[in-house]
Amino acid sequence: MSQATGARFEFHNLTKAFGGLVAVNDVTVEAVAGGITGIIGSNGAGKSTVFNLISGFYKPDAGQVLLEGQDLTGRQPHEIAAAGVGRTFQNIRLFQGMSVLDNVRTALHRSLDYNVFHALLRLPKIRSEEKRAEEAALEALELVGMLEAKELTGSSLPYGLQRRLEIARALAMKPKILLLDEPAAGLNPGEVADLVNLIRSINAKLGLTILVIEHHMDLVASLCQKVFAMNFGQVIAGGTLAEVQNDPAVLEAYLGKGASHA
Ligand SMILES: Nc1ncnc2c1ncn2[C@@H]1O[C@H](COP(=O)(O)OP(=O)(O)OP(=O)(O)O)[C@@H](O)[C@H]1O
Ligand SMILES: [Mg+2]
Repeated sequence: MSQATGARFEFHNLTKAFGGLVAVNDVTVEAVAGGITGIIGSNGAGKSTVFNLISGFYKPDAGQVLLEGQDLTGRQPHEIAAAGVGRTFQNIRLFQGMSVLDNVRTALHRSLDYNVFHALLRLPKIRSEEKRAEEAALEALELVGMLEAKELTGSSLPYGLQRRLEIARALAMKPKILLLDEPAAGLNPGEVADLVNLIRSINAKLGLTILVIEHHMDLVASLCQKVFAMNFGQVIAGGTLAEVQNDPAVLEAYLGKGASHA
């Protein structure tokens, strides 16, 4: 694949309230360009909301999202995807009745460079765009090791492969950065180990900047060069996983007041 390697990605002072609840409060994160950055934190800390703000599913109340210095703040999801932000979802979003290949092709549909008139007239342009989409889809399936499974239907896949297919969908758009929201959720230990290898190989092959939200600390430990811990909408610590795990604010948040002095 031919995307630029090691894209710089950062967001500053992101804030989002739902009614009286400030779900994301002044969150600033600079991702490791070309590396893997982790976001950890307890349930309801605001992690997925951060991804939804970055990818345009929610509009931030304040703050800025910058990809290679380009301001993406407040744009529509399809514009942000086209600018190079790929993502997966905490709850798998696949078309269960569709084949593996069609699931990936469908993800590309919005980015195809033709309109309804081309489609009606069956102009050569649409055929070449469709061919390009198929090639990109096959390339993405190969990257995640699912080429052999391309004719299977989404619903027939074991959970681990459904997660992998979601990653292929995101990669087919040739993103500059990839957001993975709890990719290991629901996987058995063997599948988690495969996923770690997959994420590492995608990162190495494509030089892709990756942000991953995870509760599995072994995954975070083996993949992430930098980690941010969130609690009640705020980043309370950042650094290596060891630094974050020993940070007094994190110990206090997880173990209760006074734990940092124990
Ligand atoms: N669309 C919404 N409307 C109202 N409240 C929301 C909405 N989305 C998220 N929230 C609230 O914002 C807070 C943060 O939710 P979020 O999903 O970002 O947490 P999370 O860190 O991803 O948690 P988990 O680890 O359980 O996935 C929660 O209190 C949640 O109920
Ligand atoms: Mg979440």
